[in-house]
Amino acid sequence: MLSDKMQEALNGQLVAELYSAYLYLSMAAYFDAADLPGFANWMRVQAQEEVTHGMKFYSYVYERNGRVVLGPIDGPPTDWDSPAAAFEHVLAHERKVTGLIGGLVKLAVEEKDQATGYFLQWFVEEQVEEEESAEAVLRKVVEAGAEPSALDGELGARVFKPPAASS
Ligand code: FEO
Repeated sequence: MLSDKMQEALNGQLVAELYSAYLYLSMAAYFDAADLPGFANWMRVQAQEEVTHGMKFYSYVYERNGRVVLGPIDGPPTDWDSPAAAFEHVLAHERKVTGLIGGLVKLAVEEKDQATGYFLQWFVEEQVEEEESAEAVLRKVVEAGAEPSALDGELGARVFKPPAASS
């Protein structure tokens, strides 16, 4: 049984993951408008991943006999100064999400909820990958400078892979 505090925090993270999807979809629209379809593809795949992250929280709350309660999702920004500025935002956002996951891990310890602590380990590892991949693309975008289209093919090759169903 989840404590009320833990349930509320997990529901909050579900919404935060859906906001991430919304943010990356907004970035996809920005790149589509800028005629960079490969960049837009990368963001769409990222948005799909975020929906799966949100659904992991949904399923987990449900499995623990909790109640999923969805709050409002903020509107995302719609414009960035440059492709590099968008990827700087991705990295800053992922660092923020890492902090949110860290807060949930801390709460799980305080609530003596080992099952939730174990569930959250997947996200602890995922955030290492999320930050690493955002840093790697940002580096390439900065290197490409005024010619972001040189990277468009590479980013266009990204394919959505659903995470393992076990967690
Ligand atoms: Fe759901 Fe980008 O972490």
